[in-house]
Amino acid sequence: MSVLVVGSVNVDITVRASAIPAPGETVLGPAAQLSPGGKGANQAVASALAGAPTSLWGAVGADAFQDTALRGLRRAGVALDGLHRLPEATGLALITVDPGGENAITVASGANAALTAGHLLPMVGPGASGRPSHLLLQQELPEAVTLAAAQLARAGGLRVVLNAAPARAHVALLALVHHLVLNEHELEALAGPGDCATQARRLLAHGPEAVTVTLGAHGHLTVTAGRTLSLPALTVSVVDTTGAGDTFCGVMTARLARGEPLEQALKAAGVAAALTCTRPGAQDAMPDWAEVQAHRGFLGG
Ligand code: RIB
Ligand code: NA
Repeated sequence: MSVLVVGSVNVDITVRASAIPAPGETVLGPAAQLSPGGKGANQAVASALAGAPTSLWGAVGADAFQDTALRGLRRAGVALDGLHRLPEATGLALITVDPGGENAITVASGANAALTAGHLLPMVGPGASGRPSHLLLQQELPEAVTLAAAQLARAGGLRVVLNAAPARAHVALLALVHHLVLNEHELEALAGPGDCATQARRLLAHGPEAVTVTLGAHGHLTVTAGRTLSLPALTVSVVDTTGAGDTFCGVMTARLARGEPLEQALKAAGVAAALTCTRPGAQDAMPDWAEVQAHRGFLGG
């Protein structure tokens, strides 16, 4: 069973600075690093590395940045037959990372924002990686495109996983989602105040069968109608958290697509996300499956 990701493709321009600048402030760092990013592309790479045949539907510009943008996707073997080259610039993310590994990101969407639902049409048909069983979405493409992708997927019988990042509440979209993944900030924005489990349960009422909240060093919490799964994080020394959430979503979806039970898929996703924090960059930092499995003890079996 394979994974289709519909999502953004960016080049990340990262500066490790003394701090994340406050409004009106200037901070200094050494040289900038250029690396492949974009939540969609990151999740597709994570999925492919976790062993699911994966394809990405999205767009880059016909400019000099496209090679960097596609480097990680090509290396991981993600099928790119659904990739469009548009006249707009390739998406760029301006990332500041502080000494603690936390980041602030500004995205110049470029070609990602120029996609329309019309570009989607052959989406759920058989592609280079076979007919997909799972669609994985984030929220860096125009809302109408993400919604249309979810509708096509539901009509085609695919399982729909949504990473609600950046935060945005679209009730019509939530109704089409089987599994929602989000962090604490996004949870607060979508579900209002309360403790994490209560907030997550509130979102179940909008349609998803499962809601997973990623909690950084505190692990992750998943609620379904009958179950609450609270799983710890692997302890690591954090260098750069960029791409950790994307790793979680990509690996979880890949393992579910491979038929693994929910708890196993979540554990693998958590380990992979922690490992992504130990190295600079997003895709460049992601572990391969052998590295995830080296933590067999933590995965439990
Ligand atoms: O989630 C991390 C990603 O967000 C970065 O790679 C950046 O491109 C932005 O899309
Ligand atoms: Na990283």
